[in-house]
Amino acid sequence: MNNETSDLALGVIGGTGVYRLANLEGAEAIELDTPYGTPSGPVRMGRLAGFRVAFLARHGEAHSVAPHRINYRANVHALHQLGVRRLLGINAVGGITERMGPRVLAVPDQIIDYSHGRLSSFCDTDGAKVEHVDFTHPYTPALRTALMRAGAATGTRLVDGGTYGCTQGPRLETIAEIARLRRDGCDLVGMTGMPEAVLARELAMDYASLCLVANWAAGCGDEAEITMDEVMANMGAATEAVPTLLAQLLVTLAAQPQGG
Ligand code: HPA
Repeated sequence: MNNETSDLALGVIGGTGVYRLANLEGAEAIELDTPYGTPSGPVRMGRLAGFRVAFLARHGEAHSVAPHRINYRANVHALHQLGVRRLLGINAVGGITERMGPRVLAVPDQIIDYSHGRLSSFCDTDGAKVEHVDFTHPYTPALRTALMRAGAATGTRLVDGGTYGCTQGPRLETIAEIARLRRDGCDLVGMTGMPEAVLARELAMDYASLCLVANWAAGCGDEAEITMDEVMANMGAATEAVPTLLAQLLVTLAAQPQGG
């Protein structure tokens, strides 16, 4: 994997609560199509901390595309078409295990996919060569490391590792479903981690996820139910660190040899 063909330092896909990057300067909105359809919205290309960055809001800028209806292939392909070779997904999640309480920022290292019916591969055109990509480590270790280093450099506490369980949504889960995810080893639950991660892998892009914990998953906290007020308040707090963290991530990546 390398960035030689592009001076684009990073692509970012923002999830719930992250519809724009406040510190993306001189951003130009690019509307584009892909062989897989239209992405969730325009890609905003600008400079962050002096580095070229492309940003896309996963659910659309007005949060109008539900997790199961997102055209993940178009989103990932559009960014690849524009030259993105390193991609960071920002994902709102529910916390399952003790270290993943509301407002925590986490950098997961594993995924279990419980979603269904999503178009989850670029290998589906007649006559195309079928490739079985390695997905042992679903998130690129070097990009995870850079994110952890950026956290340390900015004093942003990031939980290092954890398993992300991807559910179908858009509804939240039942207590029994979350108990099952916990038994399976999931620390976090979200609706959008897949197939984004595997699509990035199919296109040989580096990919990592920054998870923002919006609530305790069903049955994990003291509340009888999960309310949107709680989710939005926690997301507001968790997203505060994102601009500084991203700026430092770009500096860290520039200093870190690819794959290192
Ligand atoms: N479950 C699934 N996705 C989520 C949650 C949750 O509890 N919170 C934020 N995204």
